[in-house]
Parts: sequence; C-alpha cells; structure tokens
Amino acid sequence: MIRAKIVGTGAYAPDRVLTNADLEKLVQTSDEWIVQRTGIRERRIVAEGEATADLAVRAAERALASAKLTPDDVDFIIVGTTTPDMILPSTANLVQLRLGCRRVGSIDVLAACAGSVYSLLMGAQFIQTGKYRRVLAIGAEALSRIVDYTDRGTCIILADGAGAAVLEAAEDGSGIIDGDLYSDGKYWELLYMPGGGARHPATHETVDKRMHFAKMKGNEVFKVAVRMFAESTSQLLARHGFKASDVDLFVPHQANLRIIEAAAKRVDLPMDRVFVNVDKYGNTGAASVYVAMAEAVDAGRLRPGDLVLIAAFGGGFAWGAALMRW
Ligand code: COA
Repeated sequence: MIRAKIVGTGAYAPDRVLTNADLEKLVQTSDEWIVQRTGIRERRIVAEGEATADLAVRAAERALASAKLTPDDVDFIIVGTTTPDMILPSTANLVQLRLGCRRVGSIDVLAACAGSVYSLLMGAQFIQTGKYRRVLAIGAEALSRIVDYTDRGTCIILADGAGAAVLEAAEDGSGIIDGDLYSDGKYWELLYMPGGGARHPATHETVDKRMHFAKMKGNEVFKVAVRMFAESTSQLLARHGFKASDVDLFVPHQANLRIIEAAAKRVDLPMDRVFVNVDKYGNTGAASVYVAMAEAVDAGRLRPGDLVLIAAFGGGFAWGAALMRW
C-alpha cells in the first residue's frame, strides 16, 4: 500500500518582528492582556514589497534541501493560502516559476487556516493513487495585508509566515495513515473578508467601509474551534484504534494557546506532547502547522516511527485532522 510520507520540511518567517509592545502603540491593548488571552508574545510581518509567494519560495527551498531534493524532483505543487499575491494567477503558479520547477501542475487551496491540513491531505491523494511520486505542499500567508490595525480583536492574532513539506511515496508503513476534511458554511460570518471578491469588488466605497480587512467574532470562533478540534482528532484516532496516549506529538494549528490547551484537554493529551510556537509567530493561517512541523523536526521532537497527529481549523468554517507515522 502506497502512503504519502513527509520527507522534508522547511519554514520561513519574515524578518520584521511585531511585538505586543508595538501593538500597544496602535490599539488599546496590553502585553499582559494579549499573553493571557492568546499566549502570543510576538509575530512576524512582511516588509514593504514582500508578499506570500516570496515567503512560500523560501520555505519550499528549505523543505527541498532538507529532503535532499531539487525543484526538478517535484511533480506537483499545492499552496494553501488565504492571501495570494494576486487573485490571478495562483500563488502556486508563481512558486513553480520562482523555484524553477518543470511544467508541473500547481494549484492554490483556499481553506483559511485549515489550508495546512487541506493542502497536505490533497497533495497526499496524488501520491496514494500512484499518479505522482513527489508533491510539494506549502502553506503561506501574508495575513498582515488583510489585517485592520485599528481592530484589536484581529491585529493581535493574525500574522505572516510560510512552511512547506515534501511528500513522497513510501511503502514501508510510514507516512500519512488517514485524514479527514470538514466544512460547515453556516459559520462563514464568524470570520470573513467581505471586499475584493466578485460579491463586493474593490470600489472607493468598499475601501472607505474597510471591507478589505478580515472581520472576526473571536469569542464565537473560539468555542466552535475547540469543539471541532476535539471532535475531528478524537474520531480519527478512534477509527484507527488509537488512544490519545498513543500519540507521540500533536501539532495543532497555532491559533491561540487557550484554544490549543482546551482542545488538548478534551482529547486527553498532556501539553508536553503538544507542539506550541504561537508565542513567537501568532496565527499564520495556512502556514502554521507546516511551520510548527518544521520547527518540531529541528527541535528533535519528530522522530522516525512517532505517531503524529495534526489538526487545523479556520474561517468558513473549514477544519480537518491527519494522523501519520513519522
Ligand atoms: N486588548 C484588550 N482588550 C480587548 C482586546 C485586546 N486586544 N480585544 C478585545 N478586548 C476586550 C473586548 O472589547 C471585551 O471588552 P468588554 O468586556 O469591555 O466588551 C473584552 O476584552 C472581552 O472580549 P472577548 O472578545 O470576549 O475576549 P476573549 O476572551 O474572547 O478574547 C480573542 C478575544 C480574540 C483573543 C479570543 O476570542 C480568541 O482568541 N478567539 C479565537 C480567535 C482565533 O483563533 N481566530 C483564528 C481562527 S483560525
């Protein structure tokens, strides 16, 4: 049986650091409030002229190097992002060009912060069917471009970054065992950006009404997110006869430390088996699970044979989980 296995990981964070003290100068908030409610201490923000594809390319180069592969080895590119460089072409297309890949297929996946699990599992399908041997799966965001820095509910959380994983066919029992993707559109108004699409194309009016910024009902997002995290991961583990105690490392979407802690508690996973780096990067959307996996590898916390659980949720709502043998 062919499984898709992660054979290389990479992450890239833009240089510019935005601390809680910096945000105190922009909105009515405090370092203490942000740390207590979110666990976030600082986040990274793109520079003037820098955008999602720039971050994606850097992360992808690192993932390919860690897999000891070259752009020529890539058979397909998939990029999870909510903040593409442009509406047209896809960011994946720009990555294909900039990496110097062959004329392989490339697509963007928009599943908000669940874009990590969505892109990884969709990429894995091409390998499991035998269609492709290697897929480059990336999550990349420049969420600061759609953040309203007068809105203290969102600007403290959303941030920029990119991560990538090289998926390769494996037949030794390692790799992605299973995964589930879900969505429920009834929650769309809890986290959305109204302007710039076909419903409200950019006009002076949409700009004046601040419609090109993400809107979020944080408190409601919080409650649904914890439930979905817990449900999706518990169901996945149970289906394969695993208990929480079998999981060596849980790598969740880094939305907020309180969400991660609440979800881990419901699933009965102690925090020493949960990877957390939200304090350094904030919520980097579709990038966050990829960035966390890359850092977990570098920290020696993902070892061959480990049972690894990942999960993410985001606006839409869209969410999902995956289980793999590292
Ligand atoms: N600094 C200080 N006070 C703030 C604040 C900030 N940055 N943001 C909100 N507040 C205030 C509110 O105005 C409110 O004040 P009031 O009681 O006087 O009206 C109070 O804090 C409580 O607001 P509430 O929204 O209930 O806070 P919360 O505990 O839910 O925390 C979030 C707000 C956004 C941190 C939290 O809801 C959250 O993390 N939600 C999930 C967001 C998320 O993960 N989104 C991404 C999904 S992929």
